[in-house]
Amino acid sequence: MPIRLDERLYAIGCLVDYGSVADIGCDHGKLSYWLIGTDRASKVIATDISAPSLKKAAELALVNGVEGRMITRLGDGLAPIADGEVDTVVIAGLGGDLMSRMLAAAHAEGKRFAHYVLSPNTHPEKVRAQLVATGNRIIVDKCVMCAGKRYTVLKTEVGQMSLTPSQLLFGTDYLDDAETLNALRQELEMRRKLSEENPDSQALKDRIKVLETALEMSKQEDKL
Ligand SMILES: C[S@@+](CC[C@H](N)C(=O)[O-])C[C@H]1O[C@@H](n2cnc3c(N)ncnc32)[C@H](O)[C@@H]1O
Repeated sequence: MPIRLDERLYAIGCLVDYGSVADIGCDHGKLSYWLIGTDRASKVIATDISAPSLKKAAELALVNGVEGRMITRLGDGLAPIADGEVDTVVIAGLGGDLMSRMLAAAHAEGKRFAHYVLSPNTHPEKVRAQLVATGNRIIVDKCVMCAGKRYTVLKTEVGQMSLTPSQLLFGTDYLDDAETLNALRQELEMRRKLSEENPDSQALKDRIKVLETALEMSKQEDKL
């Protein structure tokens, strides 16, 4: 039975382009099944910390007769996956704090993977920082709109990279992304007005500084 993914999961799935995959926190298992159904992955290990969630994924595989290629494993983060056992690790729909802790724990256990495809719901800057710290280079960093919300989607390969504080916060390619630059300009305008009304707010002043620095970089790029 074919399955239709929403824009977020579809964008994530399209970044997987070969081999075996671990889908960490698979929940319903739709992405895992889609990867098998579209032949983007030869094998998927779908994992979840919740037994009821994993049961849904296992049933989806069984009903569609792909249980031989879509395997389910219960466990926390990357614990159920061995070093290099899959080509790509997908983690989507979790907060950036938890996601970066998962990456750090896997790295500390000596686990390395050719690619990560990650979509944190929050704090993408923590995920970018952890990727860089654990020897992964971000090769795709984009925003996907789904049901009126913006989602960050990242893909990595093994390698070194360094990011400016603004790139950590707003994405490796934010200087080339007119939509993000516009959003930053609008936020800056809004925060400056708020700061005039609340001159004692240090949090507002700090955010204004961050936005000004990010936008200053875009002016410097224009001059090059
Ligand atoms: C919001 S769902 C996301 C499902 C799917 N990945 C997606 O993006 O649509 C989050 C899933 O992650 C699972 N989860 C939460 N913490 C986890 C952990 N530490 N390790 C593995 N799975 C976890 C939850 O049980 C839940 O099924």
